[in-house]
Amino acid sequence: PKSFAILTSGGDCSGMNPAVRAAVRYGIAKGCNVYGIYEGYQGLVDGGKYIRKMDWKSVRGWLSVGGTSIGTARCMAFKTREGRLSAAENLVKHGIDSLIVCGGDGSLTGADVFRSEWGSLIAELLSTDRITDQQAKTFSHLTIVGMVGSIDNDMASTDITIGAASCLHRVCEMVDSIGTTASSHSRAFVIEVMGRDCGWVAMMAAIATGADFVFIPEQPLAAGEWQEAICDVAHRHREMGKRKTVIIVAEGALDSSLNPVKSEDIKNILTERLGLDTRVTILGHIQRGGTPCAFDRILATTQSVAAVEAVLQSTPDMPSPFIGYVNNKVTSGPLMDAVALTHQVADAIHKKEFDRAMQLRDPQFRQ
Ligand code: F6P
Repeated sequence: PKSFAILTSGGDCSGMNPAVRAAVRYGIAKGCNVYGIYEGYQGLVDGGKYIRKMDWKSVRGWLSVGGTSIGTARCMAFKTREGRLSAAENLVKHGIDSLIVCGGDGSLTGADVFRSEWGSLIAELLSTDRITDQQAKTFSHLTIVGMVGSIDNDMASTDITIGAASCLHRVCEMVDSIGTTASSHSRAFVIEVMGRDCGWVAMMAAIATGADFVFIPEQPLAAGEWQEAICDVAHRHREMGKRKTVIIVAEGALDSSLNPVKSEDIKNILTERLGLDTRVTILGHIQRGGTPCAFDRILATTQSVAAVEAVLQSTPDMPSPFIGYVNNKVTSGPLMDAVALTHQVADAIHKKEFDRAMQLRDPQFRQ
């Protein structure tokens, strides 16, 4: 029977557990041996107790549990050739020739590097007697399937990533809660949300909660001009009788000179220019925790089924597949194209090509 493994990598998110559960159970239903790699790529490098055969019961109850019960890590060792050599040896020794990776763009980039040098890793393991001739022949090809688990929704080639909807839901609840105390005290709040270099969480939270203003990296406001813009909006809304002012800031927000827009600076402007009693709230990791929402459970489950199908259908001449979600359909395309497109967004921002960055991000903002 076919043997494949699944691991979760990078920052966790709600929906990784449903993804692992579905891969394990669908894989077993298809007659495969399914392994869970614990602690992300670190577990793959370390091997031993970190690589465990999963059975139907191993994942019982995981559909509604946040985070990832097989653990995750941001692994430095896998970035080295030595680390990847050890990872390859561990896969061969367990008879695993296919790997499903659920993680962010960094984790998926690492996965594709691993696959592209697989041939040379196998050759080196053979020449140093770490594997046998027979193993080298049997494991001449590695199948990698990527699926994106990230609250940031920062991956190109997919409309939404696993965990983003749960995160957004949680952020909305928090902003609503802040809203009641803000209204009571007639205060202003600057609320900083996660998202790394991507403004999706901030933008969607602003729409969903009716915030007064939002700062995102993809559409920076002119340095020296945003101060006037926020005061103008906050003042107008107050004149219309609003008792609260809510400004949402993506943690990666920039101005047009690519300087970070800091929550404390926004607070100071509102306090000094408008005399508003202003507080800063940084939501932090509360955004990543908690129960996956229904959408993430469904997205993770259907994408994992597609990932296992991709494992079963993969051939050595096919590029590594990337499981996405576009126009309400689970999709499959080349992993490397998705990674390259994602990097182009970051490049465009660094080159101050903001319209281009927004166009490349378009699927994520279109919904
Ligand atoms: O990529 C997910 C994310 O939560 C980002 O939004 C955030 O910048 C980062 O991870 C935080 O990382 P850590 O949990 O390692 O502090």
